[in-house]
Amino acid sequence: MSKLFPTYARYPFDIVSGHDCYLTDDQQNTYLDFTSGIGVCNLGYSNTAVQQSVATQLQKVWHTSNLYESQLQEQVADLLVGAADKLVFFCNSGTEANEAALKLARKATGKSAVLAFSDSFHGRTYGALSMTDNPAIQAGFGPLVPDISFAPYNDNAALPQITADLAAVILEVVQGEGGVNPASSAWLHSVAAKCQQKHVLLIIDEVQTGNGRTGQLFAYQHYGLQPDIVTTAKGLANGLPIGALIGNADLATAFAPGSHGTTFGGNKLAMAAAKAVLTQLTPEFLAQVQTKAAYLEQLLQTELAPLPQVSAITGLGLMQGIHLTIPVAPVVAALQQDHLLTLTAKHETLRLLPPLTISEEQLAHGVAIIKQVLTK
Ligand SMILES: Cc1ncc(COP(=O)(O)O)c(C=O)c1O
Repeated sequence: MSKLFPTYARYPFDIVSGHDCYLTDDQQNTYLDFTSGIGVCNLGYSNTAVQQSVATQLQKVWHTSNLYESQLQEQVADLLVGAADKLVFFCNSGTEANEAALKLARKATGKSAVLAFSDSFHGRTYGALSMTDNPAIQAGFGPLVPDISFAPYNDNAALPQITADLAAVILEVVQGEGGVNPASSAWLHSVAAKCQQKHVLLIIDEVQTGNGRTGQLFAYQHYGLQPDIVTTAKGLANGLPIGALIGNADLATAFAPGSHGTTFGGNKLAMAAAKAVLTQLTPEFLAQVQTKAAYLEQLLQTELAPLPQVSAITGLGLMQGIHLTIPVAPVVAALQQDHLLTLTAKHETLRLLPPLTISEEQLAHGVAIIKQVLTK
């Protein structure tokens, strides 16, 4: 009998080792991985630079608190923001980064209202949960944080809801958990323009889309947007717990000493991993991700889109959703039998988040398995 709270309906195997884009379970089955641990191990499961950076730091010291200066945090912040006039706050997860964004936006503007969007997912702590449009996830946990409302995602009907009484608007450039829904460039620009016109902060949640997933460091960079606050997590430390909030430097006074904090956030092991990750996300690496993504998109269009079980394919970069006309859970289980690990998003979307280091051959192999299972 498991001694764990049943918060997850777990698959009946335990992953015990990983190498490159492959994972092996406790029954000696090896799987090609199209999940990256839900968009986390973007550089695969045995990235030498990350391993070495963490191992070296482990020999020195792995935790000291945030009471002291941290060259490692400064270095990772530099890698994240470059020359831009921005500041970084490190925490431990995506939901914490969004929680920090909500607090920062309220305190900096002196306003409390926040607008989020239909089918959004921002996490499970109270602030982030309150900005998540999923009744099943919110059920039973009320009352939620007040003054948070929702508008239709990727729909101009949302624009009149961006009014001057808002502290912030929060959005995902591509919704992950909500069904792999990319927003159009035109809509994103309309939202950004309306936020600027009404003096409302624009928060972009790059927890899942960030750190190279879509072929840019952050997905918003595909569209030249200029968010006031960006949150990220998942792939930033390739598997060590981390979250980060990046905000305009003029927001600094709202996060003065004593205003916000964390014991573990920015710890040295996570920072050592993040430094190694960001050092590898060079323009050349990101260009390769874009090439692989174009290859995958074409493969999905030619091999899977024509199948009657497939209603649409959506996504950006190496974040792709195959929308099915049948329930997705049995498909994921059948793919596991054929040694391919995949994810779901909502009830009918097969979500693919392969490691960014995957080869075109491995992508083709995985898509061939999906085709075989869907046509069975
Ligand atoms: C867009 C987005 N925001 C926030 C979160 C929450 O991140 P975490 O699970 O690290 O708290 C997720 C997790 O899936 C996410 O996809």
